[in-house]
Amino acid sequence: MQYCQPLVTALTPLLINMRVLVTGANGQLGQELQALQNSHTNIDFTFLSRTELDISDSDAVQKYFSELVPDYCINCAAYTAVDKAEGEEAAAYRINAAGTQHLALACKSFNTRFIHISTDYVFDGNGTTPYVEESPISPIGIYGASKREGERLAQEVNDDAVIIRTSWVFSSFGSNFVKTMLRLMPAKESLNVVNDQRGCPTYAADLASAILQIISEGKWTPGIFHFSNAKETTWFEFATAIKAHCQFTCTVDPITTDQYPTPAKRPAYSVLDTKKISATYGITIRDWQTSLADCLAKLKCAV
Ligand SMILES: NC(=O)c1ccc[n+]([C@@H]2O[C@H](COP(=O)([O-])OP(=O)(O)OC[C@H]3O[C@@H](n4cnc5c(N)ncnc54)[C@H](OP(=O)(O)O)[C@@H]3O)[C@@H](O)[C@H]2O)c1
Repeated sequence: MQYCQPLVTALTPLLINMRVLVTGANGQLGQELQALQNSHTNIDFTFLSRTELDISDSDAVQKYFSELVPDYCINCAAYTAVDKAEGEEAAAYRINAAGTQHLALACKSFNTRFIHISTDYVFDGNGTTPYVEESPISPIGIYGASKREGERLAQEVNDDAVIIRTSWVFSSFGSNFVKTMLRLMPAKESLNVVNDQRGCPTYAADLASAILQIISEGKWTPGIFHFSNAKETTWFEFATAIKAHCQFTCTVDPITTDQYPTPAKRPAYSVLDTKKISATYGITIRDWQTSLADCLAKLKCAV
């Protein structure tokens, strides 16, 4: 049987790990991806924080791509300070628009598949039914406009990109609404929370899993996709669920957006229709209550 040996060797697939570059690695989504790396041994990850790679520096982007030649790039880097963006338009565009363009161009040059994250804030919030990927966009603030420009530039220079719009992101990492509630609820007797904005929370760990599923399956369909957890809610209902889960005793009162003015306007309705990503990539979407319970279990209802 010795003569069979070379044939077997020739048919053995060459197992080479995929190289995946993650930018903005210290944000909520970046850290959730880091937390999943041990369960994806077929992937060699390179996680780069802002200090390691500033995506607004095109030379630095080119340098990293020429050294790493990644198979995939997941862009988790963004200027996300929605209110501050109103006074820092240039910075928001430098990162969310130009930075995205630099990555999209490098991906095109190095044959790297580009996964970019965008936002529900590209919509004006006047809708009343879930937004599909083709719904008209019309951002109402600088942050949303800069992210929209990032989407446009990414598609202009790289028609192979996958762009995932998401909404109301929470995580056990970074700063977000859930962690703010966990800080305030034990310290206050009462809290007012806005009850007239409707959207779907997104657990960044679920988004990270969805992204890695897209990569691991190897099937690639470019375009814009929506991802959030299922079931729409309001910030007040979200806060009430956190309070109930952690058995806090403070009172939570519903207020209107008018009673809580912010420098940047928020879309009143930003529910994303997620059917396309499920149909295209076979991604199962959990409801936000289940994902919130997972996140709170990690945080042990204390920050
Ligand atoms: N958070 C939400 O509710 C939400 C909703 C919809 C869509 N999104 C989108 O989802 C994606 C991930 O959001 P996230 O919540 O994970 O954001 P995040 O926690 O704010 O993290 C963003 C990361 O980007 C880094 N960064 C900023 N400027 C950079 C630059 N010039 N070069 C490289 N890195 C830079 C930040 O670095 P530092 O740590 O140094 O600041 C931070 O680590 C973003 O595209 C965001 O627009 C978020």
